[in-house]
Amino acid sequence: MLHRVAPSLHRALASSTAPLRGARLLDPLLPSPHAQWCRCASAAASASYSSLPPPPPSPPQGPSRHGGGGSSTSSLNPAEVAKFASIAETWWDSQGPFKPLHLMNPARLSFIRSTLCRHFRRDPYSAKPLEGLKLIDVGCGGGILSEPLARMGATVTGIDAGDENIKIAHIHAASDPTTASIEYCCTTAEDLVKENRQFDAVISLEVIEHVDNPLEFCKSLSALTAPNGATVLSTINRSMRAYATAIIGAEYILRLLPIGTHEWSKLVTPEELVLALQRASISVEEMSGFVYNPFTQGWSLSDDISINYIAYGIKRSETPSTISQ
Ligand SMILES: C[S@@+](CC[C@H](N)C(=O)[O-])C[C@H]1O[C@@H](n2cnc3c(N)ncnc32)[C@H](O)[C@@H]1O
Repeated sequence: MLHRVAPSLHRALASSTAPLRGARLLDPLLPSPHAQWCRCASAAASASYSSLPPPPPSPPQGPSRHGGGGSSTSSLNPAEVAKFASIAETWWDSQGPFKPLHLMNPARLSFIRSTLCRHFRRDPYSAKPLEGLKLIDVGCGGGILSEPLARMGATVTGIDAGDENIKIAHIHAASDPTTASIEYCCTTAEDLVKENRQFDAVISLEVIEHVDNPLEFCKSLSALTAPNGATVLSTINRSMRAYATAIIGAEYILRLLPIGTHEWSKLVTPEELVLALQRASISVEEMSGFVYNPFTQGWSLSDDISINYIAYGIKRSETPSTISQ
């Protein structure tokens, strides 16, 4: 299910002068938000309380890493990138640490297919609906999204700040003629902007919660998007439900992810994402949440954006927003 972003939200955000708060979202590297949490309630009871992370603080105040006063324009956080590089060999292990991303892929590809086909007036039922479109997958990891995008006919570039990830992505894609043409490169969006590269669509899933400056990151994604092109981002809401499931549940109880994979304070709420993209000249048009079915172990699109969500926006061709930055 897709949310049309209400004009009232756009208006409210446009009139906001508050700096974006420090926030980031968790990856879909979370377990079942419902059943797994319940199933492991007894494990929670026996867990060492002192080993749990502190509860989320009150909403952050004042300027933050969202670009509300800092001088840095780089979004790269080497420590965050190192977390993924250290487990790069597991990218294609569908039962490994990236299992949640593998399980989410059908739902997120469904959103991308639907929104991009509407945006570019393509037939979503054709075998290669994205044929002829230039796409970039920013923070592609081992390429588990880049590959199906290439199979949909797109000309795909995948970039990631972790060299280990790019090596794995390249080796895996090269083994299949339908994905061998993917261009992989170890770099950041900011560095690619300096090369004046532009794409019909820019996609960055589960990355913004791992960068240092989400507003600058959004500006780089915007610069990579051709005028009137499309941008798709997904991330995790900075909500109590996400804290309970994605951090406590996935990391401390189920041990699906290494402890520290996600920081609650780095998560981004949907409102913050819409505002950051708006400041980067991208107008968010649709948003959808993801929900997990513990019986099928599958994810589906949903109206519920309280934990994982995905957004699609259009790069405005007119001059950048006049909103105070
Ligand atoms: C959770 S993974 C998501 C992988 C992929 N987008 C997916 O959803 O399947 C986050 C990836 O973003 C990369 N990353 C983090 N910060 C980055 C940055 N500033 N520029 C490029 N890649 C970055 C990490 O190295 C990691 O591979």
